[in-house]
Order: sequence, then C-alpha cells, then structure tokens
Amino acid sequence: MFTQPPGDGRFADHGQGSCRSPTPTLKVTPVPTQYILTTAPGALPLLGHAPAFVRRPYEFVAGLPAHGDLVRLRLGPLDAYVACHPDLVRQLLTEHRVYDKGGLIFDRAREVFGDGLITCPASDHRRQRRLLQPAFHRERLPGYAAIMAEEIAGAIAPWRNGQVIDVPAAMHRLTIAATARCLFAAHEQAGSLPVHDSMNIVIKGVARRVMMPLPGLNRIPTPGNHRYQRARADLAEITRRLIAAYRAAGTDHHDLLSILLAARDDDGRGLSDEEIHDQMVTFLLAGMETTAATLSWAWTLLAAHPSVRERLHTELDTVLDGRPARHEDLPALPLTTRIVTETLRLYPPAWILSRVVADGDAELGGHRVPAGATILYSPYLLHRRADLFPALDRFDPDRWLTNSRPTPGTYTPFGAGARRCIGDAVGTTEATLAIATIATHWSLTPIPGRPIRPTRGSSMTPRPFTATLTRRPR
Ligand code: HEM
Repeated sequence: MFTQPPGDGRFADHGQGSCRSPTPTLKVTPVPTQYILTTAPGALPLLGHAPAFVRRPYEFVAGLPAHGDLVRLRLGPLDAYVACHPDLVRQLLTEHRVYDKGGLIFDRAREVFGDGLITCPASDHRRQRRLLQPAFHRERLPGYAAIMAEEIAGAIAPWRNGQVIDVPAAMHRLTIAATARCLFAAHEQAGSLPVHDSMNIVIKGVARRVMMPLPGLNRIPTPGNHRYQRARADLAEITRRLIAAYRAAGTDHHDLLSILLAARDDDGRGLSDEEIHDQMVTFLLAGMETTAATLSWAWTLLAAHPSVRERLHTELDTVLDGRPARHEDLPALPLTTRIVTETLRLYPPAWILSRVVADGDAELGGHRVPAGATILYSPYLLHRRADLFPALDRFDPDRWLTNSRPTPGTYTPFGAGARRCIGDAVGTTEATLAIATIATHWSLTPIPGRPIRPTRGSSMTPRPFTATLTRRPR
C-alpha cells in the first residue's frame, strides 16, 4: 500500500535569488493510492532492454509510464528503475541523501566533471553549493546578460541575407563564447582560448558514453575514444593555464573564476586548483550545451509554427524596435519567455538523469529498492505525459499563460530539490536574449529534407541541420 512520499510536498528552493523560468501550475492528476512497480516488457536474453534503450531512447523511455509508475529495466548487466510518476520523481529529488548522485548517467559523467557541483556526493554538496552560490546571485545576472548581449550581437554580425547556416553549430559557438566569457572574462590573459573544438568533442563524447550500458566499450582504443581523451586533456590544460594566470594576476575580474578563487568555507579554506578545475569544466559543459540545444530546438519550433513566429515578431518590434535585447527588457517580453519555457517542455536538453540508492535499501513509492540500484528520472518522459500536459505534442507557449506554478515533479527541465540547476536563470536569460535579438533581425528557415531528430545520448540536442537566413524587413 502506498503512503504519501515524505516531505512537505514542496521542493526546497535552493536557488537563492536566481530568477526562475516561469513555473506554471498544471492540472493535478488524482494521486493513485498505490504505485505500480513492474518490469518493462521485451527484455532480450543477456542484453535485456539495452538494445531498445540505445536504439530508440526517447520513444522507449516515453512509453514506460504505460507499464507502471516505477518500471524496472535490465540494461545488460545493470538493473535500473525508472520513476515514471511525478510523485515518485518528487520523492527521488527531495530525498537527495537517500538517492544520491550516481548510477548509470552520473557515474560516467564523473569521469569528466570530477567532483564538481553536478556530480559531487550529497555529503559534500552543501559546502560546494554555498561556496558557488554567490556567482549565481540575482544581482550578478545583469552583468552576465550584458556579456551575453555582446556575444549574441558579435555572433550574428557576419550573417548575410540568403546565407545557409548549420544551426546547432552556430548556437554552440554563440553559447560557448558567452559562457566562457561569463566564466573567465579576462581570458586573454591566458592567451587564446581554443575551447570550442575540445568542448564539442568532450560534450558529444560524454553524451554518448554515459548512455553506454557496456562501459568496457568506452575504453576500446578507437579513433573516436582517442579524440575524446585528447580533447579532455586539452580542456584540462586550458583551465589549468587560466587558473594559474588568474592566481598570478590576483585581480578580481568579477567573473566566475574570480569568485571561485576568492571562495572560502566556514573554516576559511579556499578551493584547491583541482576543485576549481572540476567546477570550471562542470560549468562550461553543463551551461553551454543545454542552452545551445534549447536555442536550436526553439528555431525548429518557430519555423514550424508561423502564427507563433508572427506574434513573436510583433512583441519584439513593439518592445525592442530593432535594437538588441537587454536584461531590463525581459519583463516586457512575456511571449519570448514562454517560448523558452515551452521549448524546454518539448525538448528538455537534460532529458534523462540518474541517482543511486546510497546507503542501505530504500523505499520508493512504497516499494523496496535495493542499495546500489540506479534510479532514472526523465524530464522528457514527464513532459510527454498526456495526463499532465493536454495536447502534449502541440507547441503551445500559451499553455503557460493561465497556469503559473507547476505541480511539483511535472515540469522539471532544471531538475528540482537541493540538486536543482544552479544556472537556470543564467541559461534562460541567455536563451531569451538570443531568441529576442536574433528574431528581431532574422528568420531561420530549415532547408527541407530529412526531419530534424535528436541525437542519441544523454543530452537531447538536434542532429546537425541547416537553415536559410532571411533578413526581416524593417
Ligand atoms: C537551459 C539551460 C539549462 C538546463 C536545461 C539545465 C538543466 C539542468 C538539470 C536538469 C540539472 C539537475 C540535474 C539532476 O537532477 O541531476 C542541472 C544541474 C546543474 N546545472 Fe544546469 N541547466 C541549464 C543551464 C545551466 C547553466 C547556464 C549552468 C552554469 C553556468 C548550469 C550548471 C549546473 C550545475 C552546476 C548543476 C548542478 C547543481 C547542483 O547539483 O547543485 N546549468 N542543470
């Protein structure tokens, strides 16, 4: 028999002053009295559900709620559970010491992020979060937004009417430049910053590797694995050079790296170079890929929905009158903001995440889950539940008009609870400014051809696609 998950029914807000993406209230589904635990059908001998999970990850995961609320999978040698019901996701994310960072996705991600904020165990999380939170205070956003606005303007300055661009690549370049400058504004001190290529290789490598049910395959000396290891080493070298240059100069550049260098815990201890390195890589990778993917998906959705696009143009022309968007414009751009919210519903970049049952057996939704088990939760799965989001396939930014606070555990593009994204406001600010400034001047029309599909990996990003740029008449 199910008992209501412990906790007060709400997620703690650990964002401390970050301005959130809109948080809509959605129709509340009646809470079942008993949550159903089941094993997904279709397991193959030895491989279990791994082939279906790897070949068609999105369809496979989105189909799981039809089988139960807590669904057991066999992924090669690994047993995993997927929390399909919002109440169970809420319990999973609220009890962050019972369900710690780890499991299928994060054990592999640790290889790259080290013990940075996103991968560190619960035992060290509070200390890290308190040290890093000042970098994400609300007062810092206008400064970051000013850097972003410059980078957005710089990225689109060379665009020409009729030019064809690779949209995801262009959005990656833009967000890498903006994120890198917010992190280390004075990077010219450390010489040129060739982060772009290394970041791209590392990001793709991580996304692919974390979804590999047979981790041994990641160690085979293929050219791809070599490239990935080299890019990781290059990225580490770049951040080490930056840390050394900043330490030597001793100047406060009012950026994230300066904050990390100045951070002190209650005992007056600072972060070691190794810890700062892990945080830099975490912020670069966690912040840039997610925002780039959001932007790329937004262009595909706007291209496919001319009526929303026209209303967006009206909003932008009225508010901005042809100039680039600034931080202070955001409250006057509600439709642009809702477009970002709805894009994140349909295509949450961090679409699947994992936890591990940390210390002894646990009880999830009334069912025993063994110590060490991987529990997965998927914002994509939740956002594609018809009982939570009526007309779930429709790109409808106005669904967020009337409802302003979601039922906990339903809309989770930034996760929830103590491990909720620390950079949510940075990411949504950057996406909103970029859409506003770019759509003020340009329409992006994807070249017809194959449908635009997401890559297969832990990050839901579109496969490369091209679009023609058309300058908007003024
Ligand atoms: C649209 C943009 C973004 C999306 C969709 C996104 C998504 C997420 C999600 C889902 C989590 C929770 C992971 C979990 O439950 O295991 C997370 C955590 C995190 N994100 Fe983001 N993120 C975005 C932007 C950013 C930015 C811009 C930064 C930094 C500059 C950032 C840094 C982090 C960090 C450090 C964590 C770990 C927080 C903790 O455990 O305390 N993210 N993000």
